[in-house]
Amino acid sequence: MEGVFITIEGVEGSGKSTQLLRLSQRLRRLGLPVVVSKEPGGTALGGELRHLLLERHASGETWCSEAELLLFYADRAQHLETVIRPALAEGKIVLVDRFEDSTRAYQGASGVAEASLDRLSELVLRGLKPRLTVLLDMDPEVSLQRVEVRNLALGGGFAETRFDEAELDFHRRVRNRFLVIAQNHPNRVALIPARNPVDEVEASIWSRVAPLLRSAGFGVD
Ligand code: TYD
Repeated sequence: MEGVFITIEGVEGSGKSTQLLRLSQRLRRLGLPVVVSKEPGGTALGGELRHLLLERHASGETWCSEAELLLFYADRAQHLETVIRPALAEGKIVLVDRFEDSTRAYQGASGVAEASLDRLSELVLRGLKPRLTVLLDMDPEVSLQRVEVRNLALGGGFAETRFDEAELDFHRRVRNRFLVIAQNHPNRVALIPARNPVDEVEASIWSRVAPLLRSAGFGVD
């Protein structure tokens, strides 16, 4: 039996990690075979790329958008080859925190042309698509405040953690791109309002995941 590929997407601070953890715990309690991973950083190579990508301002050099894009796809190629495809072939449920839609939303919002994304996507994904994408939707003004609070709690200074107006504007564009993806792929993407209480969000996600797993032959009752 082929496994089931599920991704979770959304702007920073939308609660992806919490929901992914809850979903994976629920599936494990049901005795189902689950693999949980993330992008960037789901492999050893990915870990190094993640470090590069997330610390990219340290050197002070501005990266051109194609260089950045290729690093995200290098991470994805290795992740698909060594983690996602093998797990699916073994019949597992594969839950991934961020995938192709993040590239479409973030790099698209940074100005990368749709045609470049299509070409790289064809090369790396070779037609593989998630069966379900959970999109946790939230106004970035609210979600980024959550991130600021979290960063402060982790000891970051206020000046370093505050998102300025330009960043907020970027994240608004990212959110809008996610919403357009959801509109264009209504069968694949479950659009879930992420401002609701955590338990409600969890229930909404489960109401989409359970029927999918049932139809794929997994016992979830
Ligand atoms: P991460 O710490 O994983 O953020 P979060 O906890 O919100 O998921 O950082 C991942 C960052 O990388 C996030 O800002 C989104 C960005 N990203 C892209 O720009 N393109 C991509 O293809 C992916 C996978 C992530």
